[in-house]
Formats: sequence, structure tokens, C-alpha cells
Amino acid sequence: MSTTQRVVVMGGSSGIGEATATAFAATGAEVVITGRGRDKIDAALARIGGESTGYALDATSQTDIDAFFEQVGAIDHLVVAVSGSAGSGPFVDLKLEDLAAGFDGKFWPQVRILKAALPHLDSQGSVTLVTAGSSRSAFPGTSGLAAINGALDAMIPPLAVELAPLRINAVSPGVIDTPWWDRVPEAQRTALFEGLVATTPVGRVGRPEDIARAIHMLATNGFITGVVLDANGGTNLATGR
Ligand SMILES: NC(=O)c1ccc[n+]([C@@H]2O[C@H](COP(=O)([O-])OP(=O)(O)OC[C@H]3O[C@@H](n4cnc5c(N)ncnc54)[C@H](OP(=O)(O)O)[C@@H]3O)[C@@H](O)[C@H]2O)c1
Repeated sequence: MSTTQRVVVMGGSSGIGEATATAFAATGAEVVITGRGRDKIDAALARIGGESTGYALDATSQTDIDAFFEQVGAIDHLVVAVSGSAGSGPFVDLKLEDLAAGFDGKFWPQVRILKAALPHLDSQGSVTLVTAGSSRSAFPGTSGLAAINGALDAMIPPLAVELAPLRINAVSPGVIDTPWWDRVPEAQRTALFEGLVATTPVGRVGRPEDIARAIHMLATNGFITGVVLDANGGTNLATGR
């Protein structure tokens, strides 16, 4: 019987997900990544190497998700790093449609993926969701993101009990320099990153590999479940929030 671990990284064609897929592939795991763009997936697969394959799907589509899990078969570890971007901004200006779009882009895909994956997950395996530090800090303009990610964080402890022995955890990243930030104008992004560097105990913004290492640890440590792990360089401590 093969002991090779099968790892699915949803949102594995970029940023945190790609770094996580790379970390697992480096340890000999068979990795399956997903994303919407086929070209982006193929470019990521070339960087990840090892026994990696890719599947194009839209995580907002139940049909796509069901078809994927029917095809992928047995899984040891599931990582959900699918991103959304809607739902941020000052509360007084936040349109309810934008907040709903934020839930549609991140909360519902993560929940939908978890439900669809369950029949295929090894009971001795793990699930790691990637949420966000917005839910555990108090930065102005992030109340919508806090709601979306906080809803996911809140599900982790009860799910860990309900779905045991399957282990369920989340990593809650601070600001990580990934292509997610390409949507923000460069000057604005640079100013934001420089401000964070000045106030963060570790003196830098995060790298995708920082979060990948945290995810790999949670997935492979059989004694950890029900945890939402902050990986933010101490940013929230520095602001006192
Ligand atoms: N970067 C940060 O500062 C930061 C901070 C806190 C939390 N996070 C969270 O970390 C996670 C990963 O973010 P990242 O920074 O690594 O972003 P990223 O570089 O933009 O990667 C996002 C990945 O998700 C895929 N994806 C996005 N929407 C999808 C959809 N509807 N269906 C299928 N795949 C989809 C993307 O592929 P396609 O584009 O091809 O679909 C890509 O593979 C997200 O949940 C994000 O909220 C990031």
C-alpha cells in the first residue's frame, strides 16, 4: 500500500496556496492544485514540481466543486486558500451588496469546498482553511473582512469536535506579499507595506512561505485540531488591538 500523502490545495495556483503546494511537494506528497485560470495553474505547476497536477474550476460554482471532488478521489489533507477581495472599506461607505459579494467570494466557497470534500477525506487527515487577521484585529476599514473571516474562524472549534478524528484548523495571516495585492495601486501598496514594517515586531510583511510553513505544520501534526493560528509577525500586538 502506498504511503504517499495526497494533498489538495484549493487556490494553489498563486500566493499562499502555491507556496503551500510547494512545501508539500518538497516532502514527496502528491499535490493537486486548483484555480480558475488554466494558464496560471500550468505556470504554477511548473514552479511547484514533484507529483503535482492541476484542475481549473470556479469555487463559487457548486457544480464545479462537486465535479472536482468526484474526480479527485481520496484525499489526506485539504487546504483551502481560495481568495475573495470584496467587502473591504469604511463601514459608512460599505455597500451591503459588496459585503454580500465578499461572503460569496470567500465564506461560501470555503464552506462549500469543505462539505463537498468530506466524503473523500481520510479520517486521519486534516483540513486547513486560510482565513485572515482582519477578524482578530481592529483595523479601520476591515469590518466587512472581519465578518467574513470571523465567520470561518468561529466554525473551526465546533467542526473539530463534530468531525473528529478528522482534524480541522485555520491559519489567520497578516499582510502577506502575494499577487492578491496587485489590485491595489503600487504607490498605495508600498505605503501600506512600509507602514506595517515600521509597526510590526518582526519588521517586515509576510511572505507566502511563512504561511505555507504554518499550514504544513497544522496539517501534519496529529495532535493539533480546532486551532486558529495567527501568523502575522505580531502586527496586532504592536497596534495594541
Ligand atoms: N495576501 C494577504 O495579505 C492575505 C492576508 C490575509 C488573508 N489572506 C487570505 O489568504 C488566501 C490566499 O490569498 P493569496 O494572498 O495567496 O491570494 P492570491 O495570490 O490571489 O491567490 C488566490 C488563489 O485563489 C484562486 N481563486 C481565487 N478565486 C477563486 C475562485 N472563485 N475559484 C477558484 N479559485 C479561485 C486563485 O486562482 P485564480 O485567480 O486563477 O482563480 C489563486 O490560486 C485568501 O483566502 C486570502 O483572503 C491573504
